[in-house]
Amino acid sequence: MTETQLKQNKALRDAPIGVFDSGVGGLTVVREIIRQIPNEKIIYFGDTARVPYGSKSRETVTRFSEQIVRFLRTFQVKTIVVACNTVSAYAMETLEQDCDIPIIEVVRPGARTAISATRNGRIGVIGTEATIGSQIYTRYIQELNRKVSIYGKACPLFVPLVEEGLLEDPVTDEIARRYLTELIDTGIDTLILGCTHYPLIRSTLGRIMGDEVTLVNPAYETAMELRRLLEVHDMLCQTPPTLGSNRYQFYVSDKADKFIRFANSIIKYGILSAKTINIEAY
Ligand code: DGL
Repeated sequence: MTETQLKQNKALRDAPIGVFDSGVGGLTVVREIIRQIPNEKIIYFGDTARVPYGSKSRETVTRFSEQIVRFLRTFQVKTIVVACNTVSAYAMETLEQDCDIPIIEVVRPGARTAISATRNGRIGVIGTEATIGSQIYTRYIQELNRKVSIYGKACPLFVPLVEEGLLEDPVTDEIARRYLTELIDTGIDTLILGCTHYPLIRSTLGRIMGDEVTLVNPAYETAMELRRLLEVHDMLCQTPPTLGSNRYQFYVSDKADKFIRFANSIIKYGILSAKTINIEAY
């Protein structure tokens, strides 16, 4: 890095990080970022009007993601975290081509964590139809270790269940059982929660999979990667949070009230407001 670049990066230390998802799922990544790098300011966008992304085409998900990145960049964000596996699977190449700031996604961190967690070389991945159909986890895991066997299962009903707040509900239990039985039969010892919504039903998934199966939430490793990236570029925010500093700002494309209620149950921070914006205008 040149002296001028370092100077420019230092000037960005106080700039916020942009994080986005199709809905509330990305908050599981925000929660981890707050835990690991609490000084950082965050602008979050949840596309609550157009969720779910997992059953949409690559073209549509890419178009939505480009709009969101344009929106986030109006805040002069220093980096963007794609807190959505579906966007990571479908749109990363396009987003990276168009963007001159670093963008982090969630699939590579999840793949790395799973490789270090497995003992028997059998890894399961659950995610949206898009993520599983794209085989992105299989590709990234096999880039790291060709000997590992990967078993994918799309679980399209989990996202609407989570968005409806049915986190601990017999309906969620029943559907999870139906989805997971075939994965249990494969003998996996590690299961990647390959959708940022799924950590919110982690206890149900854990109960069904049993104690011998390690559940991997890519959010933890993603936040670590973000921290490393900011450190390397000398862009970590040095200013500790002060009361009422509007450190975290939340934007959605619909139903801000519902989002606030949900967000407060995930992030124990006291989210008082979220603004609805017209994302189609970006
Ligand atoms: N939470 C997102 C993911 O990680 C998207 C879920 C959806 O909108 O279908 O894939």
